[in-house]
Amino acid sequence: MRVLIVGCGYVGLPLGAELARLGHEVFGLRRSAGGEDALIAAGIKPLIGDVSKSETLAPLPGPFDWVVNCVSSGKGGAAEYREIYLNGTRHLIEWLAPTPLKKFVYTSSTSVYGQTDSSLVKESSSTQPQSETSQVLVETEKLLLDAASARKFPAVILRVAGIYGPERGHLYQQYLRDEARIAGKGERLINMVHRDDVVACIITALKSGKPGEVYNAVDDEPVTQLHFFRWLSETLGKDLPPFATEEENAARKRGLTQKKVSNRKARMEMGWQLKYPTFRHGYSAEIKRTQDGGMLDAGK
Ligand SMILES: NC(=O)c1ccc[n+]([C@@H]2O[C@H](COP(=O)([O-])OP(=O)(O)OC[C@H]3O[C@@H](n4cnc5c(N)ncnc54)[C@H](OP(=O)(O)O)[C@@H]3O)[C@@H](O)[C@H]2O)c1
Repeated sequence: MRVLIVGCGYVGLPLGAELARLGHEVFGLRRSAGGEDALIAAGIKPLIGDVSKSETLAPLPGPFDWVVNCVSSGKGGAAEYREIYLNGTRHLIEWLAPTPLKKFVYTSSTSVYGQTDSSLVKESSSTQPQSETSQVLVETEKLLLDAASARKFPAVILRVAGIYGPERGHLYQQYLRDEARIAGKGERLINMVHRDDVVACIITALKSGKPGEVYNAVDDEPVTQLHFFRWLSETLGKDLPPFATEEENAARKRGLTQKKVSNRKARMEMGWQLKYPTFRHGYSAEIKRTQDGGMLDAGK
């Protein structure tokens, strides 16, 4: 297959490397110059372009069989989200719809689910997020689903949970820096997925995802913060983080969701197989990797 990865960052780069290893011809689009060497070393042909500027897409060396849109606005606000996710996706649809594209995978987020009642959330559950940025992601999904039904645009949407893996994993990184705080009584639920499994889920979706369908990309076990930190504490022999103060809890509470996201559909209908079905599997591997590399301090 001729594959274009739009956004060759934390997920896109190893995704491209794996697709190249599998024998596909892989192109990787980034916004800024300077990272070409890493792409070339991974077997990816580097391209520069900006999805928010449609004129930069036309000269790219299409057509492509598979396209993955995994651009990220980083920590941008709602205006940047609108430019990069919504307008960027609109430009990609306009550019690719007249071509013989076989599959288009978009990495959305489980943040589109606004549930606060600890319920089990499936793809058919309602998407009414409180935050403006997550609302932009819902609009972006709608754009793709409309294009799938009206124009047979072969879009598959993956709602990806909090990604962890080498150098990532917000709570874990905070814990290692002694900056973590347990929110409330530690009952807040975390839904996560290892980066290797995100890569596998995207490849599975390229092969077997059904156009016009949405799949959650999350591991098997939503976990409470307290349980997560207890496991880290016992595994690393390091103190539990302190509980947050009332002021810290009050500041953080607004807009927080509380939900258990299910991966059943991606596993049963697409055949996605997880290498790290729970955070224990993924973080055991991550801890071993950092310890083997001498990058983890002894616990206290
Ligand atoms: N991280 C998470 O926990 C999480 C959770 C749910 C969903 N997701 C989704 O997963 C996907 C992958 O995230 P990631 O962590 O791999 O992101 P990342 O490391 O920040 O990489 C993003 C890539 O997108 C490129 N990019 C940004 N703006 C662009 C633009 N306007 N035009 C073209 N390329 C652009 C960047 O290029 P430059 O390097 O040149 O700027 C970079 O290569 C994203 O869609 C994200 O929303 C992530």
